[in-house]
Amino acid sequence: MKKEDPKLMEKIVSLCKRRGFIYPSSEIYGGIAGFWNYGHYGVILKENIKCLWKQRFVFDREDMFITDTSIISAPKVLEASGHISNFGNEIFKTQVGTGEETAVSHLRPETAQGIFVDFKNVVDSHHPALPFGVAQVGKAFRNEISPRDFIFRQREFEQMELEYFIREADWEKYFEEWRKTMNKFAKEIGIARIHELDVPEGDRAHYSKRTIDFQFNYPFGQAELWGLAYRTDFDLKNHGLDYLDETTGKRIVPHVIEPSLGVDRSVLAVLLSAYTEDELGGEPRNYLKLSKNIAPVRVAVFPLLKNKPELVKKAREVYAMVKKDFSSIEFDDNGNIGKRYRRQDEIGTPFCITIDFDTLEDDTVTLRDRDSGEQRRVKIKDLKEALI
Ligand code: GAP
Repeated sequence: MKKEDPKLMEKIVSLCKRRGFIYPSSEIYGGIAGFWNYGHYGVILKENIKCLWKQRFVFDREDMFITDTSIISAPKVLEASGHISNFGNEIFKTQVGTGEETAVSHLRPETAQGIFVDFKNVVDSHHPALPFGVAQVGKAFRNEISPRDFIFRQREFEQMELEYFIREADWEKYFEEWRKTMNKFAKEIGIARIHELDVPEGDRAHYSKRTIDFQFNYPFGQAELWGLAYRTDFDLKNHGLDYLDETTGKRIVPHVIEPSLGVDRSVLAVLLSAYTEDELGGEPRNYLKLSKNIAPVRVAVFPLLKNKPELVKKAREVYAMVKKDFSSIEFDDNGNIGKRYRRQDEIGTPFCITIDFDTLEDDTVTLRDRDSGEQRRVKIKDLKEALI
């Protein structure tokens, strides 16, 4: 069972570095604890996860807005939100301005506050009726005392958050709805085995009346992947913000349900869920069984031989054709075909297309399936359908 493999984390870290997903930050200077760099495939995987999140949590709905607020805010924001008094040292301090103009501010520890502080602007621009939500994807910073476990606990990380503004009486209903949406999303990106933990009162954040931790079974133990919190009216109240309820003509402070998803922990859980070892053609292999929706490369196209111009030309034609329908396509003519397949397996490419001498005769190609390793002949004109 792969989840009990004591070396699983090591294998993932090494695959990520070898294949260009994730590197230690500042590595040539010995690294810096809690900071990581995403390489080419890591960026694409992360972008695909963020895009799908925006699709499901924002664009598929009619009650959501999206925003992108600054990382550094007026010092009062994090004082009013209770972060300075509750988290103190864990918040990165920075200086804004020079000379006499200098003010001390902080790097945001969550993207949420930018959403709360802009509440009035969003209401004035869009006049939304309750319930509605505002989403944001962006970096957050925490000076964690012990950053650890690869990208699990970092000092700089990314969040996909939304604040869903509701009437107080409806909180349980919407808490339940978002819980379902989060579970569905986990499935869609291929994260297996989520455990929900109702966080007891003493362990909840200062603003929360109910929190569910979505926990994942990491190789180092079960731990938080995402959180879902009922933040009550805590934040809007502390920022002195309210809302004119046009159905009653009264001003109220909306309550808030907050699904908060860490991007990096999502990437880690996706990689851990996808990592598979098996045997193919009598040889051991390892591969990433990534979902087609988020794999950094959807299809790789190969000419069988690099030094046969007629094969390379045809492969280029097929590549250009496939690229019209799928954006993440790779052309590879390096090394022998077996090695190319293994490389694509390791980065999780669901399909490989090989152009050989038969292609020149009958316009068919070899289509190889990552998971089974099976190869079949497909007509070039039928490729689109076969790759969906
Ligand atoms: N706005 C609510 C909030 O920030 P949180 O539980 O402190 O709640 C939300 O953080 C999510 O952000 C976590 O579930 C996790 O996915 C991610 N996260 C938090 N701290 C992190 C860290 N040090 N490194 C990586 N991800 C982190």
